[in-house]
Amino acid sequence: MRTQVAIIGGGPAGLLLSQLLLKRGIDTVVLERRTKDYVLARIRAGVLETGFAGLMREAGVGARMDKEGIKHDGARIAHPQGQFRIDFKKLTGDHVIVYGQSEVTRDLYDAREAAGGETLFECAGVTPRDLDGEQPFLTFLHGGKMNRLDADFIIGCDGFHGPSRQAIPEAARREFEKTYPFGWLGILSETPPIDDELIYAGSERGFALCSMRHEKLSRYYIQCPLSDSPEDWDDDDFWAELKRRLPEEVAETLVTGPSVEKSIAPLRSFVCEPMRWGRLFLCGDAAHIVPPTGAKGLNTAASDVHYMYHALVRHYEDGDSAGLDQYSAQALARIWKTQRFSWWMTNMLHRFPDQSEFDLRVQQAELAFLEENEAARRALAESYVGLPY
Ligand code: PHB
Repeated sequence: MRTQVAIIGGGPAGLLLSQLLLKRGIDTVVLERRTKDYVLARIRAGVLETGFAGLMREAGVGARMDKEGIKHDGARIAHPQGQFRIDFKKLTGDHVIVYGQSEVTRDLYDAREAAGGETLFECAGVTPRDLDGEQPFLTFLHGGKMNRLDADFIIGCDGFHGPSRQAIPEAARREFEKTYPFGWLGILSETPPIDDELIYAGSERGFALCSMRHEKLSRYYIQCPLSDSPEDWDDDDFWAELKRRLPEEVAETLVTGPSVEKSIAPLRSFVCEPMRWGRLFLCGDAAHIVPPTGAKGLNTAASDVHYMYHALVRHYEDGDSAGLDQYSAQALARIWKTQRFSWWMTNMLHRFPDQSEFDLRVQQAELAFLEENEAARRALAESYVGLPY
């Protein structure tokens, strides 16, 4: 098999890139390790920057997002002394769109299938080869036999555990990592959201987040020890703990119900440099991870896709490889700013096991400063709605 651009990973990053390229007549093959049903069942993020939404529209996949997605002009921050609002619209003129990652992925698969794009599912042992030569290729097991896919370029959209990053020789890459001593226990419930905007709550008992997918589907998270497992938490325990972490007047309005999904995710900050090795380019979680406070994971993958897409179009349409040469530095410059934001939001709102009284006072002061200072709120809002590409 031969294609122009081989994409490893059929998640939102790989699918969005392939759809954008397809619109420009650039041929792609997408290899996915799992089944389509598995990919679609993963419950992930739900907040899209307008830059992401713009890419979806450019790819011709924005119709349902524009119809069913919910525009959010602000979000709330709650803390033990009260709560305040970050007015995205007033502070930045921009907004975010609440629309689940699984819906984004579904729309992209529908469009890819309608356009006849090739996706191979259940590909095992995908191995990038000859990346530093002119003719890279992939080998993989599919349909009971070994296959070979030749391509001009290989794009690794295969997530944190995928083979792409590992294909960059260890001596040629540097990894930066920070782990956090807690996780997020998340549930999905078919109940109306507590508010029409998201609430990020820092409390004495730890962080909580009230989010949503639509008017009848809520997503809630609470910070929990890494040693906990979802089975340790029955629904009643979860709701009771969530309420304790919210301001009383807010907690009173919470509508509870059975959970339809419950899982724990660890928190991590991670960056791999560079994001290019020869003819291999990394996009999204394959190269970087952010803690979810700030909703930047999917959005950062989209900014990589933006740079990658334009670099490939420039190469194929103008014969100019400058975009490819600049890709890693350009993507990383934005990624590090997003890393800083996600790390800062995480530090401001969580309880850390080793936090001293001094640390707690500084955390309180940080929240008070944000509440009182418009410039500080604007800085938060600018990062939240998305830095420019
Ligand atoms: C979510 O709805 O899943 C969500 C929203 C905001 C975040 C993280 C997760 O910061």
